[in-house]
Amino acid sequence: MERMVILKEKLEQLRQQVLEQLNDMTDEKELNELRVRVMGKKGWLTEILRGMGGLPAEERPKAGQLVNRVRQELENKFDEVESNISELLKNARLKDESLDITLPGKKHELGGLHPLNGVLEELIDIFGSMGFDVVEGPEVETDYYNFEALNVPKDHPARDDQDTFYIAENLLLRTQTSSAQIRTMETQKPPIRMICPGRVYRADEVDATHSPVFHQMEGLVIDKGITMCDLKGVLEQFAKEIYGPETKVRFRPSFFPFTEPSVEVDVSCGVCGGKGCRVCKGAGWIEILGAGMVHPNVLSGCGIDPEIYSGFAFGVGLDRLTTTRHKISDIRLLFENDRCFLEQFNR
Ligand code: PHE
Repeated sequence: MERMVILKEKLEQLRQQVLEQLNDMTDEKELNELRVRVMGKKGWLTEILRGMGGLPAEERPKAGQLVNRVRQELENKFDEVESNISELLKNARLKDESLDITLPGKKHELGGLHPLNGVLEELIDIFGSMGFDVVEGPEVETDYYNFEALNVPKDHPARDDQDTFYIAENLLLRTQTSSAQIRTMETQKPPIRMICPGRVYRADEVDATHSPVFHQMEGLVIDKGITMCDLKGVLEQFAKEIYGPETKVRFRPSFFPFTEPSVEVDVSCGVCGGKGCRVCKGAGWIEILGAGMVHPNVLSGCGIDPEIYSGFAFGVGLDRLTTTRHKISDIRLLFENDRCFLEQFNR
């Protein structure tokens, strides 16, 4: 009987002690350690059970019941504390990861086309609809493609106007996209209809209308029976599509070594309608391109028989086209990358 009393006391002691510890338990790891210490194979409860070996046989079932009741109670308590702890953890995580959907979002800023590229896309559309293909050529060009094959031999005075940056004696930054005429005629058989946009370089001082780096778009048409009428028709159509149908177009005689005859093309100033203003510098006209009938020397140099084929070529200054098209007063604005300026052109 005495042993029974001791067992009960021990159990009660253990029960109290464990419940107390469980009461302020907030850590999962500590909880598991305590569980092992109490319920594990070598735990306190097992120890007490083992102590029952000394009990008389008739008292053992009673003692077993007592132990099991405490074990059951403690097990329930352990489970309860465990689920409380995981609930706490979950809430803390939710709070941590919570997202305030009422806060203003981060804005994705959309870029837009640079005005130069916008105008270029228009040109590609216009000439594309007339059947022109777009080609590209290298910016580092040989003397042959940039000058010689264009009927500009080494001592030709026309070179002075296009002084540029040399990389080696016969290698330079192209001064004109006209080099693409030669590259195209060397690799394609007529009929040819191509445009070639790109960057060109000249040793010019920077001012409101000049830059050592600027952009041109070359055009070339070669076929049987191409005449000056075709040149005029195509270029007039192009000018009207860019500047509006009321635009007047003027062809002035000019000189380029690789075209004969050669012309320069002006459009009536869209700002003053031809009366003369700051944009057209009082002239009423704005020069937009050089053009002409491809010189027979250039054709035959590319293996095209000038007796059978003829054609015309033109070179448009894209920067000038862009500034006049958008009434921009200074070419430098195109290169400064000032967002306040550029954002006006976002379509
Ligand atoms: N390449 C000439 C220039 O840069 C323009 C041009 C191109 C003239 C094609 C005639 C034909 O001034």
